[in-house]
Amino acid sequence: MEVSNIHQEINITPALQARIDELLSHYPADKKKSALLPVLHEVQDAHDNWLSAPLMDKVAEILEIQPIEVYEVVSFYTMYNQKPIGKYMFEFCRTSCCALRGAEDLIDYTCQKLGIKPGETTPDGMFTVVGVECLGACGYAPMMQLGDFYKEHLTKEKVDQIIEDCRAGKIDLHKQDSYTEQ
Ligand code: FES
Repeated sequence: MEVSNIHQEINITPALQARIDELLSHYPADKKKSALLPVLHEVQDAHDNWLSAPLMDKVAEILEIQPIEVYEVVSFYTMYNQKPIGKYMFEFCRTSCCALRGAEDLIDYTCQKLGIKPGETTPDGMFTVVGVECLGACGYAPMMQLGDFYKEHLTKEKVDQIIEDCRAGKIDLHKQDSYTEQ
């Protein structure tokens, strides 16, 4: 597991705790681990979209499970970030359909435009570019996930526009009905 040494302030606010409690209410009291995935999403969203080891330990404490049980889940799924990421994370699908439709070219183009390599974040903390596995939108290849949304049938021109819109603050990262606090 990739462990970041960067300090992260842990803040389980009353609103976050209430949301966690609501999630836990869906499961038997002795099966808190069942809520691990949604709880991790909530906790990550409330902590600048990443999970440090101490924060994962906190999640383990809340769910009354061993820290390793949290680590193994966080390190398996790409939607959980183990180090700070940019405000806008471009998650380009690089699996078969998207690969055939030029995903690697688009990733290279985007990285070059932003002056970073895949997996890196721009120095201003605005953008992170990563390649991920199939996001289930193969018919719309090439595509990427940005926040709660999919950007589909991507071209270099569309990527240019998305970057411009991000810089202009015109991009929503969360759906209206998301339970994430804005
Ligand atoms: S191959 Fe890209 S979404 Fe499935």
